[in-house]
Amino acid sequence: MRTQVAIIGAGPAGLVLGQLLSNSGIESVIIENRSRDYIEARLRAGVLEQGTVELLRENGVGARLDREGLRHDGIYLQWPGNRQHFDFPELCGRSVWIYGQTEMVKDLVSARLHTDQPLFFDVSDTAVHEVDTDHPTVSFRDSDRNAETIQCDLIAGCDGFHGVSRTAIPASLGRTWQRDYPYGWLGILAQAPPSTDELIYAWHPNGFAMHSMRSASISRLYLQVGLDQKLEDWSDDRIWTELTTRLGLDGWTLTTGPILDRSITPMRSNVFAPMRYGKLFLAGDAAHIVPPTGAKGLNLAVADAKLLADAIIDSYDSAGQQLLDAYAETAARRVWRCTHFSWWMTSMLHVEGEDPFAHELQLAQLRYLSTSRAAAESLAENYTGLPYGW
Ligand code: FAD
Ligand code: PHB
Repeated sequence: MRTQVAIIGAGPAGLVLGQLLSNSGIESVIIENRSRDYIEARLRAGVLEQGTVELLRENGVGARLDREGLRHDGIYLQWPGNRQHFDFPELCGRSVWIYGQTEMVKDLVSARLHTDQPLFFDVSDTAVHEVDTDHPTVSFRDSDRNAETIQCDLIAGCDGFHGVSRTAIPASLGRTWQRDYPYGWLGILAQAPPSTDELIYAWHPNGFAMHSMRSASISRLYLQVGLDQKLEDWSDDRIWTELTTRLGLDGWTLTTGPILDRSITPMRSNVFAPMRYGKLFLAGDAAHIVPPTGAKGLNLAVADAKLLADAIIDSYDSAGQQLLDAYAETAARRVWRCTHFSWWMTSMLHVEGEDPFAHELQLAQLRYLSTSRAAAESLAENYTGLPYGW
């Protein structure tokens, strides 16, 4: 088959890219190696930056988000005896929205299926070919194991951290920066009304804890755990006791409930460059991973997709290559800014051993944020998301 843009991966990056291109009359084919049910149920991020929300609305996929998403005008940072609210509209004029990645993916898949643009699920054996020529192709097997080839003008590698796109770039031309943190997050989804109006990020000598949510009846909570920890080590009782301790504040109680889902995710920062090789362009987790403390991963994937879509649209409209040629560098600037912010939030809030010096530095930073307008504004503008033209 022949199309203009072959998109590998139907995560947020690939689906948003497909939507933006389709709205501009550019054809694409999306291939995804998981089933529709799987990608619509895969529990991941929950915070959308204002720019992400506006982009979804402007592109016809914001109706359910506007009905069901929860606008949050701030977050709480907590340390023992203190819970400090940061008012984002007051600090930087922007907000964030709570809307599960699963819901955003469902909206984008549904919008895609209402176009005449193909989206193949359950593909296998994806491979890219001749990306350093003017006739790149993508080969794969469809859900019936029939061999298919897509001929295209360019390929968008939106296939996440474990995809094939990044590895198609010769090792001698690429560079990776990586930081593995010595802890992970144990995350739970609970049938319990949130005990807070906005997200709580808590520093505690036992380790970081966080209270997020998905709806008026579903809470999402996280605990910092050691890399040696297994889910079997954590009974429901132990999870709720530890959350109650780490999130505890006088006069406040944590509502518990049945645990619907649980997982442990290691924390990692990883950046790959360049985000382009010939006619292959990387977007989202295919090129970078951030630890989730700054709520950036999903939003960064959407920002890459927006930058790449603008560049592709411009290349067809003006027959110029300037934006496409600039993509890798433009995207990398934002990637590094978000990588820094995510590292900074992670380092400030997680406990590494019992080093009293390190603890006091973290507490000093938290107190500074809660007393300095300049520091609070910086937190707010990074958390709510920098503009796309940044
Ligand atoms: P992905 O969502 O990974 O999408 C890539 C898609 O490509 C997938 O659907 C995959 O199945 C498909 N694919 C892979 N290989 C192939 C192939 N060979 N052929 C075809 N298709 C392929 N971020 C936050 O901000 N907050 C969070 O709380 C948070 N929690 C997370 C929890 C987990 C367990 C993980 C893994 C990530 C989490 N993230 C979080 C990060 C966020 O979910 C990602 O940054 C976001 O999903 C990136 O979107 P993407 O489209 O780039 O990649
Ligand atoms: C979530 O709701 O899953 C969530 C929210 C904020 C984060 C990370 C995860 O920083």
